[in-house]
Amino acid sequence: MTDQASPRILVTSALPYANGPVHLGHLAGAYLPADIFVRYQRLRGRDVVFICGSDEHGVSILLSAREEGVSPRDIIDRYHRRNKEAFEKIGMSFDNYSRTSLPIHHETALEFFHDLKEQGVLKKKKEKQLYDEKAGMFLPDRFVMGTCYHVRSDGTQCEYTAAYGDQCEQCGNSIDPLKLIDPVSVLTGTKPAVRETTHWYFPLGDYQERLEQYVEEHAGVWRENVLQQCRSWLKEGLEDRPITRDLDWGVPVPTEDGSKKVLYVWFEAVLGYISSTKEWAAKQETPELWKEYWCKPDTRYFAFIGKDNIVFHCLMFPAILMAKGGYVLPENVPANEFLNLEGQKFSKSRHWTIDLEEYLENFPPDLLRYALALNFPETKDTDFYWKDFQARSNNELADILGNFINRTVHFAHKHFQGRVPPPANSTNAIVNSLPCSRPPRRVLHSRTKDVASARGSVEP
Ligand code: MF3
Ligand code: ZN
Repeated sequence: MTDQASPRILVTSALPYANGPVHLGHLAGAYLPADIFVRYQRLRGRDVVFICGSDEHGVSILLSAREEGVSPRDIIDRYHRRNKEAFEKIGMSFDNYSRTSLPIHHETALEFFHDLKEQGVLKKKKEKQLYDEKAGMFLPDRFVMGTCYHVRSDGTQCEYTAAYGDQCEQCGNSIDPLKLIDPVSVLTGTKPAVRETTHWYFPLGDYQERLEQYVEEHAGVWRENVLQQCRSWLKEGLEDRPITRDLDWGVPVPTEDGSKKVLYVWFEAVLGYISSTKEWAAKQETPELWKEYWCKPDTRYFAFIGKDNIVFHCLMFPAILMAKGGYVLPENVPANEFLNLEGQKFSKSRHWTIDLEEYLENFPPDLLRYALALNFPETKDTDFYWKDFQARSNNELADILGNFINRTVHFAHKHFQGRVPPPANSTNAIVNSLPCSRPPRRVLHSRTKDVASARGSVEP
């Protein structure tokens, strides 16, 4: 059954970094909720495409490679394969799971970059940046750490000593590395020098009004956590953001002086949704089909993410799409809070985690899907407890559901010669009993009328 009247639906889940295994916290954030939404839409017969892939650039990949003493390519090849497989085993029904290291992605990202440059949207600026003289390189983003300089609204200083060059994980504010107190190079442990370098900037500030309008158009529909974060960024006032980096891992951009520069990972990773859709279309020999989903204004686009990705998906990405023109913007950006593990944050470095792969080695997928779905961190952080998982599996699935099935089968044997009688109106009976299948905006006066009209009597 297909629903011809419904427009196309595009669903994306945040592209996980291919520098480590996906864990249960990730799954409960941007993946399982999207999968449930997509499966529901498919059940309703709607035309939906579900897109994801690995985010394979950026400083976090370089740092993992360095830690292990292998190349960034080794890291992304390993974790792309493992995460893709784990997602398949847990039943994620992506239509495509791509990689940002593919040529199709590099081409897509560069097309955006060149187009924005030619339109005169991007600005070239010379700026001071931290430089590691021992390593002989600039220190963008997480290559530098130091003490946070932010002042909280109550006037106290954050002073978190392990703030990264892009963000402070204690107060959540973004960081200007030049303002970090006692900055240290993550590469050599030395105190960085300051040097000048040239970068391309995206003028996010120029989109302030349009973004305010975009966000407020969705007030009352988007989740409160999402609206609040957007409003707080907008209140601060948006500024130009550099979209290139002095690195040799990423999507290379041409330079006049021969220096190695790549696109900032957040500028290109969000475009990975588009390149993954292109790859999907090409795989089925309809290479233009991706445009139906990205460029037709009546597409309904839903971008599922975790709360740490809000600014990039609700402000940065829409602004890039506005600048490019001709693309749909997300209709909703459902961002989950975090799932914690037995009262503490998931942490790779502290080994406080349950990797999806590890779970799958021990238990079947549906037990976890069920336990997580009942405990999604939709409005606040929630916790995964093994005891809860055990209770849900044993009491709810094995006892209650299992018992229900057992009795039904028993009953069928006793009264219907061991055959399940066909339902009155097979598939439609199930689909039509879902609450949303009623025509929208019809006022139901009473139960009796509803039943009567469903049976075909004429409404007054
Ligand atoms: N890799 C990022 C993270 O794990 C998410 C990137 S979403 C994208 O937080 F759209 F930018 F790819
Ligand atoms: Zn801070």
